[in-house]
Amino acid sequence: MKIAFAKSGLPKVGSLAVGVLDGGILSPTAQMVDDASGGTLARAISASRFSGKAGQTLEIIAPTGMDVDRVIAIGLGKAEDIDGACLEKFAAAAYAAVEKAPATELTLAVDVIADTKEPVGILAAHAAFGAKLRSYRFDTYRTQEKPEDKPALKTVTVATNEVNAAEAAFAQLDAVAEGIFLTRDLVAEPANVLTPPAFMRKAKALSKDGIDVEVLDEKAMEKLGMGALLGVGQGSSQPSQLVIMRWNGGKKSDAPVAVVGKGVCFDSGGISIKPAAGMEEMKGDMGGAAVVTGLMKALAKRNAPVNVVGILGLVENMPSGTAQRPGDVVTSMSGQTIEVINTDAEGRLVLADALTYTQKTFKPQVVIDLATLTGAILIALGGENAGLFTNNDDLSQALTAAGGKTGETVWRMPMGKAYDEMIKSDIADMKNVGGREAGSITAAQFLQRFIQDDTPWAHIDIAGVSWGTKTKGTTPKGASGWGVRLLNTWIAETFETEGNAKSDKKKAAKK
Ligand code: BES
Ligand code: MN
Ligand code: ZN
Repeated sequence: MKIAFAKSGLPKVGSLAVGVLDGGILSPTAQMVDDASGGTLARAISASRFSGKAGQTLEIIAPTGMDVDRVIAIGLGKAEDIDGACLEKFAAAAYAAVEKAPATELTLAVDVIADTKEPVGILAAHAAFGAKLRSYRFDTYRTQEKPEDKPALKTVTVATNEVNAAEAAFAQLDAVAEGIFLTRDLVAEPANVLTPPAFMRKAKALSKDGIDVEVLDEKAMEKLGMGALLGVGQGSSQPSQLVIMRWNGGKKSDAPVAVVGKGVCFDSGGISIKPAAGMEEMKGDMGGAAVVTGLMKALAKRNAPVNVVGILGLVENMPSGTAQRPGDVVTSMSGQTIEVINTDAEGRLVLADALTYTQKTFKPQVVIDLATLTGAILIALGGENAGLFTNNDDLSQALTAAGGKTGETVWRMPMGKAYDEMIKSDIADMKNVGGREAGSITAAQFLQRFIQDDTPWAHIDIAGVSWGTKTKGTTPKGASGWGVRLLNTWIAETFETEGNAKSDKKKAAKK
């Protein structure tokens, strides 16, 4: 599906979405519709419960006096509440209304309305972004679909007075959309296709976007003493991989931001095997690694003035004659020993070594890890928030703020010594599970044992948000790509300040 921008006005073909404010106040294009159709829109509004509240829609099919096939009136709420997120929802609602319709063209009218929170160009860019995100579909393996069941929409045109401003703002958002789509693709891909080596090759392909990609194979990881990560992969016929992606858009002297992802390409549970029901969902247990990969792509595509290193721990957790057993003791790269009580608590073992490697190699100024780490976080927070665990209050605040801005919200969970004591082992430095109670927290405590004291660190448990069972706003059901926007915004607002290499260059060029 193509996104285009055009001057405001009534289109000649396809479907047209127009905004209506709370109280039934017509936006300028909605007024043009009403005039052209001899008052049909106003009549339809008064004949229905539609009043322009955010989230409401009203469809008029084949309006008399107009060229378009259908008009979708969409509630925008109160003018003073209208922001980018509001226009993303507007676009998603319009898309949903025409998804099954035969029209190939959809026009989204984004008009100038007094008192909105953002200028119309920005609002128009967000409408385009929302339409793009909502249009995502993973159809690689649908070979028998009838043409009439496929989406007909070919072009979404955003009609606005500020075409140039909208196009410029959309270029930045489109880079993020590309990253989100990559994340969604990776999560949706089945585990027989997306093995650790296949994932590694997808990451390597990012070098065409200007990202340096390096890979450690099992031999290299053995040399470094990564017994925790390698133990998880030892039951699989697929070799484990550690992928290191570097985006150097900032000053040479700036320590990088590090983002580390759990990449369990399939989690059968290993010898502590999972029940059959729902096990297929564990193809998505590389969701953290997928977010890191999508984020790197987004940063590169928008040429972000910042240094970021993305690390993926890629393994497959399988039962076999070579698999690790409950009771095994492994030695991590940090030197700490771990008693593996349950082979299904494997993500933390992978992250332990990936985190140690990241800190030792890059001395990052901050470390974030993302992981589909625990079923318990889904029980605690559902699909509404990801779980945030951190040793740093400023970081907590910054991530929470970025979550609020992007709609990818996090909820901070407690940590502390009493929880840490739950993972004491009788024969090793720690065990990999702390019992059923506080399962997401003991998992975070385990990770914290691999964080060097003063490094600001956050762990984001995305087990509840990386996959959705129903379509929500701009996110179709299935792989959500949750986290790319959050981290992209957090990075942009925290690290891409004046004085970075690329912004300096831009300034110099302007002078
Ligand atoms: N990958 C799972 C967590 C998970 C569960 C993600 C459901 C997405 C949906 C993780 O490796 C796991 O198996 N965790 C166990 C930990 C337990 C053995 C301590 C869990 O949550 O049950
Ligand atoms: Mn597991
Ligand atoms: Zn897992």
